[in-house]
Amino acid sequence: MTTMTGTTATAAAVGTGHTRVEGRAKVTGAARYAGEIPFAELAHGWLVLSTIARGRIRSVESGPVMSMPGILAVLHHGNAPRVTTDYTGLLGRPDPTVAVFQHDRVPCAGWPVALVVAETSEQAREAAAALVVRYDDEPHDVAFSAGRPGTYTPESSPRLQAETRKGDVEAELAASAVVVDAEYTTPEEHHTSLEPHAAMAHWDGGRLEVVDSNQGSRWVAEDLAQLFSLDPASVRVRSEHVGGAFGSKGVRPHQVCAVMAATVLHRPVRVVLTRRQMFSLVGYRSPTAQRVRLGADADGRLRAVDHQAQNLTSTVHEFVERSAAYGRVMYDADAHHTVDRVVALDVPTPTWMRAPGEAPGSFALESALDELAEKCGMDPIALRERNEPDRGPVSGLPFSSRNLLACFREGARRFGWADRDPRPGLRREGRWLLGTGTAAATFPSGVAPSTAAVTAEADGTFTVRITAADVGTGARTALTLIAADALHVAPEHIRMRIADSDFGQAMVAGGSMGTRSWAWAITTAAGELRERLALGGGIPPEGITVRSDTTEAVGALAMRERHSFGAQFAEVAVDVSSGEVRVRRMLGIFAAGRIVNPLTARSQFIGGMTWGLSMALHEEAVRDQASGALVGADLAGYHFAANADVPLIEADWVDDTDNDDPIGIKGIGEIGIVGAAAAIANAVWHATGVRHRHLPIRPDRVL
Ligand code: MOS
Repeated sequence: MTTMTGTTATAAAVGTGHTRVEGRAKVTGAARYAGEIPFAELAHGWLVLSTIARGRIRSVESGPVMSMPGILAVLHHGNAPRVTTDYTGLLGRPDPTVAVFQHDRVPCAGWPVALVVAETSEQAREAAAALVVRYDDEPHDVAFSAGRPGTYTPESSPRLQAETRKGDVEAELAASAVVVDAEYTTPEEHHTSLEPHAAMAHWDGGRLEVVDSNQGSRWVAEDLAQLFSLDPASVRVRSEHVGGAFGSKGVRPHQVCAVMAATVLHRPVRVVLTRRQMFSLVGYRSPTAQRVRLGADADGRLRAVDHQAQNLTSTVHEFVERSAAYGRVMYDADAHHTVDRVVALDVPTPTWMRAPGEAPGSFALESALDELAEKCGMDPIALRERNEPDRGPVSGLPFSSRNLLACFREGARRFGWADRDPRPGLRREGRWLLGTGTAAATFPSGVAPSTAAVTAEADGTFTVRITAADVGTGARTALTLIAADALHVAPEHIRMRIADSDFGQAMVAGGSMGTRSWAWAITTAAGELRERLALGGGIPPEGITVRSDTTEAVGALAMRERHSFGAQFAEVAVDVSSGEVRVRRMLGIFAAGRIVNPLTARSQFIGGMTWGLSMALHEEAVRDQASGALVGADLAGYHFAANADVPLIEADWVDDTDNDDPIGIKGIGEIGIVGAAAAIANAVWHATGVRHRHLPIRPDRVL
């Protein structure tokens, strides 16, 4: 760790590695999570989920359960407070899954049908297990496949651009010397963050207080205010420490039913989800079925890119996994067509999961590129160089910066790509076939208006208040470094206070937009504060506070294609007797703007790449057609990469200066997973000569 002393340090804290400012608190257990913070008079809620996949609740037989020890209430559709989902929140219309206990319809297996509240968690759990719920069952449909007609509703999510067209794809395909036409599938995948979702709610002097684990406390506060028709100023949500969140920790049923129970019982109530409940209550990545058609001249120049993707959604809410959107900025072609369609089934609503869209979309398109390289007899990196655009291939907008080829050059050098024999199935080491593969990556670099307050304290330190969330990424530390540089002091002089909705509106920890958005607000306030301090005069006991709001500055940004880019490399060994694929090493080189804290940034990239490995080889949730529920919805049944599966993974970056952007940060939360599965699948082809277009690449698929 680099330390600087003195209040006039001008050396940059940003750009040098710093351990987490809350690291000691976390490893000693002093950092408390939402599920373990003690509260006086705390009651405990336990959710009961539907066992049918479609139908109606005939009765919730709470009578016998109410006489069990410690039971305080059984909430269900017949007695729960009313809420509304008729509003548009920060990220669009809320998933009606959060509007628990509002009607007797059951739209999927694992739908919340009751909350049992008791003096202890154990009592609530026992009563929840004993609670009899009777249903009128109806036939359900949970069968997702490529062949089903998918649709999309542009007005339901207008910002998503479900379909884009440029040029005449069919004509360009017909004129192409080389065509790839391939179908790819990815399975249903789940978040399972280490810390399950948990929330405590209570009323305190007319204010609703919620202690939660989320990606944006202001977001959750505003949505809860709308759901319960409350004045936003009367809701406070805090989320001090978060044990992982990749898109699932927004407004979910646990906060809503904790608020309901606290309202009914007039005491604090906590609801903690179980690992199994997370599989149906917090969203997941939809399975995808994708068709990619590429047409090229014999020298590899692309004429046509057609990417059509299908995902599922529930019958209650439309969520679009934007797989086809991945390619819109990647490769030049005379014609482009991309579309994402959905099929509504009797399943829980999917949601954002690390690189939503880009993760499955890059698997398909970057695999297809590798197939095209093979057909053209070209090196896959040379193919990408040939089709490198100088503007957004679909939008026509200039890039704010684009250093994809620099990533490939640096990656190829470090990985030893130049020595690679492109022919598949030639390298053997005992029972192992060896191969290497590569793929590109991109993720949008967005920014959203945020507010921050920076206070010069009378003792010479500074306090920053911003409704940022540190979901385990190191955001709190990154923002400390940014504030230190903006105030020209050492990081030790900064007190970073985050994750409290009372601090005001700010971007959530999502879309790889958090650090960039928050840094902008902090830098703006800090700059004004320095000007104020330069005028001289003493600091009063309450300090001097400057507040910022970046709404106008963010709105004035020039229209550009703003993206981070990356090049992924993988080496695999395939066991010819068992079909097992072992990844031997991975290398990811990224162009992701200014890297704030190299130590935690590397962890973000490696975490994403590890998840990509897991996606390529392990993860797959299987839905039982008969019951409509998942098979093995727990960490025994849902396989993911464990330590022994994860080899040497290296991540690094190239310079990527974004001159247009005053902050220069692009965001690094998601790009690490993008392209990683394709690099592995392409390496498996290089090892074996067989293309794997369906994830995960299980042993039975390899044999
Ligand atoms: Mo991320 S899927 O934007 O939390």
